[in-house]
Amino acid sequence: MEKRHAVVTATGSYFPPKVISNSFFEGYLDTTDEWIKTRTGISERHYVEKGVASSDLALEASKILLKKRGIGPEEIDAIVFGTVTPDMMYPSSACLLQDKLGAKNAYGFDVSAGCCGFVFSYTTGVMLVESGRYDKVLVIGADVCTSFLDMNDRNTCVLFGDGAGAVLLEPAGPDEGMLDTIQHVDGSGGKYLYMAGGGSLNPTSAETVAKNLHTVHQEGREVFKHAVTKMADVAVEIVEKNGFSLEDVDLFVPHQANIRIIESVAKRMKLPREKVMININKFGNTTAATIPSCLDQAVESGRLKKGDLVVIASFGAGFTWGSALIRW
Ligand code: UT7
Repeated sequence: MEKRHAVVTATGSYFPPKVISNSFFEGYLDTTDEWIKTRTGISERHYVEKGVASSDLALEASKILLKKRGIGPEEIDAIVFGTVTPDMMYPSSACLLQDKLGAKNAYGFDVSAGCCGFVFSYTTGVMLVESGRYDKVLVIGADVCTSFLDMNDRNTCVLFGDGAGAVLLEPAGPDEGMLDTIQHVDGSGGKYLYMAGGGSLNPTSAETVAKNLHTVHQEGREVFKHAVTKMADVAVEIVEKNGFSLEDVDLFVPHQANIRIIESVAKRMKLPREKVMININKFGNTTAATIPSCLDQAVESGRLKKGDLVVIASFGAGFTWGSALIRW
């Protein structure tokens, strides 16, 4: 019997309405619109209002997805929710979303994989469908990055935004859907990008808050270096390993952390700009939401069509990195 594949049958994305432009930071930090644009490619990003959590953003993206697919929430069998900003320690955001969406027949769980939250969740979702046990798997990438930002740290606060993306996976034939995936972890890179507070090592206390352990710590230059080489290597590897040439790739959808990382990776892959999906200018780095929101926007704008050969790739905290080769 031929192996069952999993294909994306619908996409959705959602960004909260409040838009924050670079001039907001110029008002109180030693930074400029020029620095942010040229060093990161970001012009604006979206922020939630107080009280809006990752599951709320995911809910909106999921509702859009379900409407496009024309099915009800009770048809979903499983929810795989990639995030580094779950609503709370537990229950998982997958459980919270399951309730809010009314997906009463779905089980689900969160995937914590830094900026690879979507790539790892998507590949996990694919395997659930490939196993033959589940027919409709909702994969989410959603983050409220503002929940971990130190708004006085110019090295990090200008980079991130809030948002959510969702894809629905369903059974497909052998030539469609995810053709292959490569995923990596190197835990020795953990010291370069982390949020140390609020977990079992440093439970929240007046002391952890005073030490700012509840906000992101990033050694940007070190992360940058690894991101460029590892993301490019894993994207090239997956194409060549499967007997394709880089010219066969119709669309490359990389994690959106920095336009200079994206451009360096695209250059290493010898891909022209029109084959690279970019939305960092309007949304910043939304962690797990970057790739699914790009996929949704690519579908909606007609840049991504059935039958296209797509490569997704990401690099993030952990270190985590990975790619997937998809026949859309
Ligand atoms: O998504 C998860 C993975 N994350 C990433 O992939 C992020 C990877 N890293 C990056 O994107 C970049 O390293 C950053 C955007 C974070 C920083 O850009 P950079 O070109 O690597 O800058 P840098 O950290 O080397 O800093 C250069 C200078 C420093 O000043 P000095 O020490 O040379 O005087 C920084 O203090 O730029 C300064 N700087 C800023 N200046 C104005 C840092 N942030 C700002 C800012 N405005 N917002």
